[in-house]
Amino acid sequence: MSDQATKLREQLLKLNKPGNKVIGIVSGKGGVGKSNFSLNFAISLSQKKKKVLLLDLDIGMGNIDVLLGTVTNLSIIDIFGKNLTIRDIMNIGPYGLNYISGGSGLSTIFAMSEANLSHFLNELEDAMDEFDYIIFDMGAGVSEQTIKLLSAMHEVIVMTTPEPTAVMDAYAMIKHMVLNQVEAKLSIVINRISSQKEGESVHLRLEKAVAHFMNVEVNLLGMIFDDSIVRKAVISQKPFILQAPSSLPSRNIDLICNKYLNEENKGATSHSFIHRMKTLFLKR
Ligand SMILES: Nc1ncnc2c1ncn2[C@@H]1O[C@H](COP(=O)(O)OP(=O)(O)OP(=O)(O)O)[C@@H](O)[C@H]1O
Ligand SMILES: [Mg+2]
Repeated sequence: MSDQATKLREQLLKLNKPGNKVIGIVSGKGGVGKSNFSLNFAISLSQKKKKVLLLDLDIGMGNIDVLLGTVTNLSIIDIFGKNLTIRDIMNIGPYGLNYISGGSGLSTIFAMSEANLSHFLNELEDAMDEFDYIIFDMGAGVSEQTIKLLSAMHEVIVMTTPEPTAVMDAYAMIKHMVLNQVEAKLSIVINRISSQKEGESVHLRLEKAVAHFMNVEVNLLGMIFDDSIVRKAVISQKPFILQAPSSLPSRNIDLICNKYLNEENKGATSHSFIHRMKTLFLKR
């Protein structure tokens, strides 16, 4: 293992502090609703008085800014190139939500080199104590670095829509994570359903497919109905739970948030994180 990789491993281990949770939002197929979910879920947690940091890791193609209708001067890219701290690049959103923009401009193809990631994690570690939840909107596609980051997280939420292509890609993503020893708790959110029944059948299909190759449980965190309010909110650059709090998708987010907090209170997810990290990294 290279020095760089060893250092990264140590930093990832340090990210585990009792009391906070690191959550990654991923998908197989792009465009299934990760950014909208990440943002609205983060706001919903903030409304419930949780301290949340949302990180747009779709580097160079960040969307959180656009969804919020804000323009930020600094993004995650600036922590790589310039001598800035994580606090310098944090912005305040609705209900005191802290977020870091992913930046735009495609000149960032090497942004997530191991050295950059290491620097970033160092900075993130400094800020960890302030937050109850750190949510990563991972963007589409998986790199080696993405997998490394995911393997440090407490929970990974895989998003899909009911479309067979998206479900297949969600399955492929889960398989890829499991084969790469990502041992975070896996949950799925099924977005854009037209009926409860449709969502349940997607969950069943995924569960069966996953059980076929591995003993991994895929927890259904929730479902979000397809509703034109989401597109309208995107166009007016206002998160849908704020624009239309009583709409179906907003109520779905609220339900997901409550379920999430409820499951967590039962201690279902966090206790074995450090153990998993150790097994994951120290055995190799
Ligand atoms: N529940 C929903 N109902 C209706 N439309 C939706 C819903 N969720 C998402 N959409 C539509 O899908 C679009 C893409 O959503 P979003 O940008 O959140 O996806 P993404 O997974 O982050 O995409 P990418 O992979 O490019 O990062 C939205 O702009 C909206 O038009
Ligand atoms: Mg996105």
